Amino acid sequence: MRFKRPISGGKARDGGANRPASGAGGTLQSDHRLVEGVLQQIEAIADLLPSLPPAETLEVIVESLRYRLPAHCLHEEEELLRSDAPEFAPALALLRQEHVDNEWIAAELAEAFEDCISTGRAACPEALGRLARQYFVLMRRHMAWEELIAARMDKLSTQDDQS
Ligand SMILES: [Fe+2]
Ligand SMILES: [Fe+2]
Repeated sequence: MRFKRPISGGKARDGGANRPASGAGGTLQSDHRLVEGVLQQIEAIADLLPSLPPAETLEVIVESLRYRLPAHCLHEEEELLRSDAPEFAPALALLRQEHVDNEWIAAELAEAFEDCISTGRAACPEALGRLARQYFVLMRRHMAWEELIAARMDKLSTQDDQS
């Protein structure tokens, strides 16, 4: 999975320092489609339990949970969803907190999948299913909320360019 860099530029009065990259919403949505692909794989595993997919499939998902999804979150915080506008401060603080919380769940889920890889079975399928569902439900809600914030930032940025 490769995440795109945001498109920068624009003519904001502050030279662009206090606004999200132009078109951040569109880039965010394309990144989120990649994340959704991982969530669909996790949901399919939850539906399949106590059976498991091949270890190779689990390894790819663990890689995403441990590295690719955290990289996406960092990219959002550093570039896609940055703004010094006071109206966004509470939302961005909450977004960062959700990243921390979701990353804990992702790490727990990755560890559970690693156990499945090493033993060839799900030791406690019900608990694993609950954890997997908790993760993809939270992530989908989080992404929908981020896209609303990005749309608002893009709208504000467009208004700045026109004034
Ligand atoms: Fe996020
Ligand atoms: Fe995101």
